[in-house]
Amino acid sequence: MKEIDLSTKLGEITLKNPVITASGTCGYGQELEDYMDLEQLGALTVKGITLQAKTGNPVPRIVETPAGILNSIGLENPGLEGFLADKIKIIKGYQLPVFVNISGYSIEDFVLLAEKLAEISCIAALEVNVSCPNIPGGGLAFGTDPELIYQITKQVKAAYPGSVIVKLSPNVTAISDMAIAAQEGGADIISLINTLQGMAIDLERQKPVFANTFGGLSGPAIKPVALRMVYQVAQKIKIPIIGMGGIMTGQDAVEFLLAGASAVAIGTATLIHPDAPLMIIKEIKAYLQDKKINNIQEIIGKVLN
Ligand SMILES: Cc1cc2nc3c(=O)[nH]c(=O)nc-3n(C[C@H](O)[C@H](O)[C@H](O)COP(=O)(O)O)c2cc1C
Repeated sequence: MKEIDLSTKLGEITLKNPVITASGTCGYGQELEDYMDLEQLGALTVKGITLQAKTGNPVPRIVETPAGILNSIGLENPGLEGFLADKIKIIKGYQLPVFVNISGYSIEDFVLLAEKLAEISCIAALEVNVSCPNIPGGGLAFGTDPELIYQITKQVKAAYPGSVIVKLSPNVTAISDMAIAAQEGGADIISLINTLQGMAIDLERQKPVFANTFGGLSGPAIKPVALRMVYQVAQKIKIPIIGMGGIMTGQDAVEFLLAGASAVAIGTATLIHPDAPLMIIKEIKAYLQDKKINNIQEIIGKVLN
C-alpha cells in the first residue's frame, strides 16, 4: 500500500500530520522532550503568555473528576519578557511549526503582545485565547461577546502579519456566532474548545476547592460537547478548524476530523501519558490504513457532506 499522506493545511501553514499539543499541557515544549521526539508532531502550541509574568492561583489547582479534570492554574507564565529571554531560544531550535498562545485583560494587552511577537520569526502563528475562564476581570468576557471577539481579532490581525488562530470558549449559547465574528475579524484559523466552566466543593472545609471558586473542565467528559461545537462551527465558517476537547485516542481524533476539523490538539491526555500525541498519530494512521484511505484529506469534514 502507498505511504499514507497525513499532511494537512491550516491556511498558509502546512503540518506533516494533524496532531498538535494543546496550550497549557506541554509547557514550552522542553518539558516533554524526555518523553517524545517533538518533531514528530504536526505542531506545538505553548502555554499561554500574558504581558506581565503571573504566579498563577494558589494550590490546589487541579481536581480530578470522574472523566476529566478541573483546573484553575490562573495562567502562571513568565510574561512576555521572560518568554523572550528564556523560552524563545528553545522554540527556535524546533523543526516544526510552533504556535504561541496569548492572553490578556484588555484588547490593548493582546495588541501589545501581537506587536512584540511579530518581531520573532520562528513563531508560525499566534493563538489568541479569548476564553481563559480562570482569571478575574478578563478572559471569559471576551469569549462570550461576538463584538469583542471581532474587535480583538481585527486589532491583533492589524498588529501581527502572520497567521492568527482565535481560540473559542465553549461557555456560550451560540458557538457559531463567536466563530463567525472571529472569521469576520480576519482570523486565519479557529481553535475550539477551551475548558468548560465548572466547580468542586471541599466537604471538610465546606468551601469551594479552588481559591477562585471556578475551574475549567477538560478531558473525556467534554468530548461530546467539543465534537458538537466543531461540527456546528464547521458548517458556518470557511477558515480551517483545530478541534480539541477530550481527545484521548486516534479514534477520538478521527471523529473530530470527520466533523470538520483540519487538525486536532491533545491536552489532558498528555498529562496522563506524556507521549499520547504520538500514539494518536499512529492510531489515526492505522484507522486510515484499515479503511484503505491514502490521504487524510478524504475524511476531513466527511460527516458534513
Ligand atoms: C492544565 C491546563 C492548562 C491550560 N492552559 C491553557 C492556556 O494557557 N491557554 C489556553 O488557551 N488553553 C489552556 N488550556 C486548555 C487546553 O488547551 C484545551 O483547550 C482544553 O484542555 C481541552 O482539551 P483537552 O480536553 O484535550 O485537555 C489548559 C488546559 C489545562 C488542562
